[in-house]
Amino acid sequence: MRIGVIMGTGHGSTGTTGALVTQLLERVRAVDPSLTVEVDVVTTDDLDLGPSCPACLSCMTAGEQSCPSFERTSPARALMDAADLVVFATPVHSFHVSATMKRFVDHFAYLIHRPAYVGKPAVLVSTAAGAGHDAALGYLSSAVRRWGFHTVGQLGVNGPGLAKAPYREKVDRALDELVRTLHAQALDPVEPKQTVADLIGFRVARLLVEGGRSEGPVDAAYWDERGWFDADWFSDRPVPKLANRIAAMVEKKIRAGIEEGSAKPWTGGRARG
Ligand SMILES: Cc1cc2nc3c(=O)[nH]c(=O)nc-3n(C[C@H](O)[C@H](O)[C@H](O)COP(=O)(O)O)c2cc1C
Repeated sequence: MRIGVIMGTGHGSTGTTGALVTQLLERVRAVDPSLTVEVDVVTTDDLDLGPSCPACLSCMTAGEQSCPSFERTSPARALMDAADLVVFATPVHSFHVSATMKRFVDHFAYLIHRPAYVGKPAVLVSTAAGAGHDAALGYLSSAVRRWGFHTVGQLGVNGPGLAKAPYREKVDRALDELVRTLHAQALDPVEPKQTVADLIGFRVARLLVEGGRSEGPVDAAYWDERGWFDADWFSDRPVPKLANRIAAMVEKKIRAGIEEGSAKPWTGGRARG
């Protein structure tokens, strides 16, 4: 079993998030001592990605090799490519993922157009002083879903709470539960039934790629090679019929919004008088 860990904390493996991931991995090894568990860790700060993604979009139009940070991001890409399951770990910073984790996610934005991890499971872990796991892990789950990953387990832990025995016991139970899921999914991944949001995501990605064909052929060639322009989903997993019909209706509306300018600016969803 090969597990990849993307560690999105400036405190690396010695901080609170790193300690939680270590506990997770120790338990994974303990489930079946006869199984060889290889673990690759990339700490996002070590990738030295600069203050932010340069936002040149060349990864999308000319291919990821043209990103000025391509060489520096490649250890993370190699880790995700080789892993049976990837653990994404972040501290909660201001009710979101850490800036270093966000910078990492931005550097792989081309994977939204060219998903490479369909069928690969992910586990999400966060630590905080007390709040924000839902927003941080909710974001991370949608971000990596766009790259193809599906989240099979999540755990958000409050570092200071670990000093109290009842909380520590609950965290231990949650870790045991997460390890059972991780173990089973890494050895025998099961691609989940697609949700309406997944199917809309597929159609929106297709729309983007179609629309961008003239600016850069890289995305479209990727989709052509895989036959995705004629498909309803990235893999041969059958799509649920009703969900797919709803996604098709939403796609029609989005297309009209783009082509006819009937889309409305975002105002928070409230009617204005
Ligand atoms: C800039 C910054 C923002 C933070 N924001 C939050 C927050 O919104 N909610 C929270 O509960 N803890 C917050 N924390 C606390 C960290 O999430 C917490 O200490 C975490 O466990 C640190 O993990 P690490 O040792 O791996 O860096 C924040 C810490 C920093 C440095």
